[in-house]
Amino acid sequence: MASYEDRWKTVDVKVQEGIAWVTFNRPEKRNAMSPTLNSEMVQVLETLELDADAQVLVLTGAGDAWTAGMDLKEYFREVDAGPEILQEKIRRDACQWQWKLLRMYSKPTLAMVNGWCFGGGFSPLVACDLAIAADEAVFGLSEINWGIPPGNLVSKAMADTVGHRQALYYIMTGETFTGTEAAAMGLVNRSVPREQLRAETVALAAKLLEKNPVVLRVAKHGFKRCRELTWEQNEDYLYAKLDQAQLRDPENGREEGLRQFLDQKSIKPGLQTYKRAD
Ligand code: COA
Repeated sequence: MASYEDRWKTVDVKVQEGIAWVTFNRPEKRNAMSPTLNSEMVQVLETLELDADAQVLVLTGAGDAWTAGMDLKEYFREVDAGPEILQEKIRRDACQWQWKLLRMYSKPTLAMVNGWCFGGGFSPLVACDLAIAADEAVFGLSEINWGIPPGNLVSKAMADTVGHRQALYYIMTGETFTGTEAAAMGLVNRSVPREQLRAETVALAAKLLEKNPVVLRVAKHGFKRCRELTWEQNEDYLYAKLDQAQLRDPENGREEGLRQFLDQKSIKPGLQTYKRAD
């Protein structure tokens, strides 16, 4: 098993029992996303994608923040003072991991929101497939409070997850809301008391670890893309994904699942996953 100890300066990575724990690691700056963190996250995601031991990815933060959003000093002020062209690379790295890689990542991704989550943090939050927050976590679209509209894909992330009125309310007022409220509005799947957050995340990851990884990937990609296609396009696209799953699946899960239900009568797919070979 690969060891990632001290490989990156701003991100800590540990792989344990199928789960890749990816931790933003700038607690003294509330895990603000600096250009260094953004470019390291591109490397982290590309590295873990090829690590067979990393089957489910959990994204969390060190200390009392998930992330306080983009780094106002290193991502904004210092880049503003540099050559204009630098903006291009800096923005590209941010987009590359925060939603391009993460949104269609080939493995399941869970955001484990342990604390502060502001502004630019909403792009990776929503790009993760699932999210669990501490009840006590504090969320906010704080951009309006320091003089910009939400940047990166933050508005798109809000539009894709929560209702129109709630999105505009928080975008326009900059008011904060808790993990409990984030769950009620569908921004995260659920919230739990902070002391239960890790156990709850491990339990959810364990459910995903039972599933066929190829089918899981195709199912999430199919869902994410289908939002943007018409019904007719979806008919072609989703059937193509379904056929792709069968073609690419080395464990031949469909036949195995059918066999266990229809012939062996050993499972009820309505209630459980088919038993995968070890
Ligand atoms: N960018 C850069 N630095 C940040 C930061 C950010 N987004 N968020 C926090 N920091 C830094 C602070 O400047 C401070 O650095 P210093 O110790 O060198 O002075 C350090 O992190 C601790 O921040 P502090 O404000 O003292 O922590 P807190 O626990 O009292 O408050 C927050 C936490 C998250 C409420 C507060 O830091 C905050 O409002 N941050 C900005 C959030 C924001 O608007 N993000 C949107 C960016 S798009």
